[in-house]
Amino acid sequence: MRRIAIYPDLAGKSVFITGGGSGIGAALVEAFVAQGSRVGFVDIAEAPSRALVERLSERADHAPLFIPCDIRDIAALRRAVAEAAERNGEIGALLNNAANDQRHDPDTVTPEYWDDRMAINQRPMFFAAQAIWPMMRRLGGGSIVNFGSVSWRVAQGGMPAYTMAKASVHGLTRGLARDLGPSNIRVNTLLPGWVMTERQVELWLTPEAEAQLRKDQCLPDKVMPGDIADMALFLCSDSSARCTAQEFIVDGGWAH
Ligand SMILES: NC(=O)c1ccc[n+]([C@@H]2O[C@H](COP(=O)([O-])OP(=O)(O)OC[C@H]3O[C@@H](n4cnc5c(N)ncnc54)[C@H](O)[C@@H]3O)[C@@H](O)[C@H]2O)c1
Repeated sequence: MRRIAIYPDLAGKSVFITGGGSGIGAALVEAFVAQGSRVGFVDIAEAPSRALVERLSERADHAPLFIPCDIRDIAALRRAVAEAAERNGEIGALLNNAANDQRHDPDTVTPEYWDDRMAINQRPMFFAAQAIWPMMRRLGGGSIVNFGSVSWRVAQGGMPAYTMAKASVHGLTRGLARDLGPSNIRVNTLLPGWVMTERQVELWLTPEAEAQLRKDQCLPDKVMPGDIADMALFLCSDSSARCTAQEFIVDGGWAH
C-alpha cells in the first residue's frame, strides 16, 4: 500500500491549484485534501472536476472547492482567486499546474497559435501568483510551485511552443524568488518526467514508447501522478522552508 507523509502545517491551509480537474492536478487536489487543506481549484473541464469534488467530499475534512475558469482569461482567473480566498481564507500555497501539451508541427505554427499556447502554458502562472502574493505577504509567507517539464531538457520535439513555455518557467521562478524572498514567499519549479495520467496513457503510451521509457529512466517503475503530488506537498510544507529558486525533478532518473 502506498504511504504518504503527513505535514501538520498543511492542515487548514488555503491552497489554490490550477488545472485541478484531471491528471496530475487531480492528484494534487486529492493529496492536499488528504492533508486537511482547504483546496480551491480551477479548471476548464467541468465534468471531471465536479466528479472529483463528489468523490473526495465524502471523507474530506474540507471538501475541495471547484471554480470553473478558463485561465486564458486573466480577469476570470483573478475572480476565481478572490472567490477561493473568500471561501477558504487567504491563500498560502499556489500550484501553477494547468497546461496543455498538444503536439504541433513547427512548419505550420501561426502567430495566433503561438500566442494561444503562451496564454495557456505561460501567462497565467505569473498572474495567478500576482493575485495571490499580497495574501501570502499578509500571512507572513507562502509557497508558489510552478510546473515545468523535462521535455525541453531531453530535447523532445513536436511541440516547440510548449517546450519554450516550459523552459521559461525557470526564469519566472528564479526572478520571483528574488522579488518575493524578503516576504518569506518561496518559489520553486517542479519538473515531472513522463507521468502516467489517463491522457498520457490514452494518447501516447504505445508498447514501443514504454520500452524506450524503461531504457531512459534509471528506475524501472513508471512515474505516477501521486509521485508528483508527494513532491508538491513537501514544497508547500514547512519541511522545505529554506528551499527557493530551485528545480525539483521527479522523473525516475530520465533527464540529466
Ligand atoms: N503528464 C506528464 O507526463 C507531464 C510531463 C511533464 C510536465 N507535465 C506538467 O505537469 C502539469 C500537469 O500535467 P498533466 O499531464 O496532468 O496535464 P493534463 O493535460 O492531463 O491536465 C491539465 C489540466 O489543466 C486543465 N486545463 C487545460 N487548459 C486549461 C485552461 N485554459 N483553463 C483551465 N484549465 C485548463 C485541463 O482541463 C486539465 O484538467 C502541466 O504543467 C504539465 O506541463 C506533465
